[in-house]
Amino acid sequence: MTLAELDLHHSQSLAEVASVAEPTALEQLRVKYLGRNGLLPAIIKQMKEVPAEERPEFGKRAQAWRAALEAALTEKHLAVATEETKGPAFDPSLPGRWFAPGSKHPVSRVIEETAAIFARLGFTVADGPDIENRFNNFTALNTPAHHPSMDPSDTFWLTDNLLLRTQTSPVQIRMMTQHQPPMRIITPGRTYRRDTTDATHSANFHQIEGLYVDTQPVSLADLKSTLAYYASEMMGSKAGVRFRPHFFPFTEPSVEVDFSCHVCAGKGCRVCKMSGWIEIAGAGMVDPRVFQFVGYDPEKVYGYAFGFGVERIAMIKYGIPDIRWLYENDMRFLSQLA
Ligand code: PHE
Repeated sequence: MTLAELDLHHSQSLAEVASVAEPTALEQLRVKYLGRNGLLPAIIKQMKEVPAEERPEFGKRAQAWRAALEAALTEKHLAVATEETKGPAFDPSLPGRWFAPGSKHPVSRVIEETAAIFARLGFTVADGPDIENRFNNFTALNTPAHHPSMDPSDTFWLTDNLLLRTQTSPVQIRMMTQHQPPMRIITPGRTYRRDTTDATHSANFHQIEGLYVDTQPVSLADLKSTLAYYASEMMGSKAGVRFRPHFFPFTEPSVEVDFSCHVCAGKGCRVCKMSGWIEIAGAGMVDPRVFQFVGYDPEKVYGYAFGFGVERIAMIKYGIPDIRWLYENDMRFLSQLA
């Protein structure tokens, strides 16, 4: 085949496409020229018979023809397509596509809400590592050398000196050794204890620590009003707090903090075991010994600290009866709290 003959086929095919006005005829044209047994593939198969010096030009023109023909066919197809060949019209009565929305885990929600509440009181969020040393987790927190909490049956020791932190309180030490008062921080994070898992215990849970230190007097009343504000923001405006005397090595005096039961508003129910109160936190005034350990002058610095379990707040707030539900990632459970 000569170049002139090729060009003739080219222009003829385009003229034929231009002359049809109906989808089936158009499809026949496509098969005639481009189909498996169509003219264009056949011509290309016979390229070796074209004189060698004409062959590159021949190949180029054949490709140009294919491109032009395909474009013409597509354009014509759109012009002559019937409703049927275009596909169905948009049907607004069909059900939409469903996307499962993700949601925040209850533990993350409690941490974020707590951070937001304390931010309104001037607290910023501080962070510390899960792997701590003996000094930060125990010694500087004024824990006596043979305190039972250091026992390998309670604490995950990694080496003689390193351990998985049993509380977020070591972040107090880290912050106070690095910064001068005044300081208001909260510290959410993971904590680890060698506890056997049951409905209310987990070997890996979360705490939120709070610390306020200042060079002007800070009192137990400040601590109480801060926690009362937190209780009412977190649990509802009617929530109250009460302090019960307790002991922690790093606070003096120390208290355990109860929230009034949000279910019965203090009247007594199953959730609060008829007492009207739910134990939430440990707290107290920072012990002068701790200030000494971090290099503060205990005569000149005052402060309070508190710490509570995040899972415990989540369980109370959302009515979750078993702590293990928080770790199983069962969508049937999590989606109820979305
Ligand atoms: N760290 C204590 C605990 O884990 C809680 C606490 C924090 C108590 C700060 C007093 C002050 O039980």
